[in-house]
Amino acid sequence: MATDTGVRPERQKAEGGSLRGQRRPRTKLGLLWRSTIGKKTVMAVTGLIMVGYLVVHMIANLKIFFGAEEFNAYGHWLRVMGEPFLHRGWGLWTARVVLLAAVVLHGVSAYQLSRRDLKARATQYAHKRGRASYATRTMRWGGVILGLFIVWHVLDITTGTVHSGEFQEGRPYENVVGTFSTWYGNVIYIVAMLAMGLHVRHGFWNAAQTLGVGNARRDRVLKAVANTLAVILTVGFVSVPIAVMTGSVG
Ligand code: HEM
Repeated sequence: MATDTGVRPERQKAEGGSLRGQRRPRTKLGLLWRSTIGKKTVMAVTGLIMVGYLVVHMIANLKIFFGAEEFNAYGHWLRVMGEPFLHRGWGLWTARVVLLAAVVLHGVSAYQLSRRDLKARATQYAHKRGRASYATRTMRWGGVILGLFIVWHVLDITTGTVHSGEFQEGRPYENVVGTFSTWYGNVIYIVAMLAMGLHVRHGFWNAAQTLGVGNARRDRVLKAVANTLAVILTVGFVSVPIAVMTGSVG
């Protein structure tokens, strides 16, 4: 019989999700967070929030093809977004807080789910080494690469801490061109963008399954949407370093 965490007791124990010895959560939200399906739902919802952000970010990045003035005006708008209703910077900080919460919840759930998976495999395959599938391992490594990339990207383009050359406050166009004027800037970003494409492709599909959107009829459409989304995002983002490298932006 399934428990209120949605997992059978014997499987829950094998997955390390047993509540024995742990304080039982008092609220429904606490119970959901403890359960495997709850963590998968958190991953799906936060993943979709981040994909939404990536689509907007990729489209905004394409403004770089229209020159420094237009791109820097967009950088300025990020800071004054919501004015005069909001105080300067509040709109940007709200977006930052939502994104940071999504990244942290996504990462913590992924870590906890893979620990459960490893424990369950150790129990089920006591005599054999039960390895995670290729897709699962790609997702885990892709997630780690993207986490590291986000930290690098913010230190590079927002604070300027690791920026190559001179960082110019309020001039994202010149800063982006600076980043893609070094070989390692191109390598870091292009590798991260390819990892992002693979992660989005598989993650979007996983999220649809978790949220119960998939069925035999819709699966083909969902796979096509996941592939198209991944290709558009990868090509859109990678077009910027390629444009700087080839001299069409600079
Ligand atoms: C070629 C690829 C990319 C370029 C050229 C690029 C460029 C930029 C620029 C110009 C900004 C605004 C900086 C500012 O004015 O403060 C920014 C912000 C940001 N980007 Fe990207 N980006 C790229 C890819 C990505 C990817 C793939 C992610 C996520 C996985 C990402 C996450 C972010 C985040 C979270 C911020 C907000 C940082 C803040 O809080 O100010 N970017 N990016």
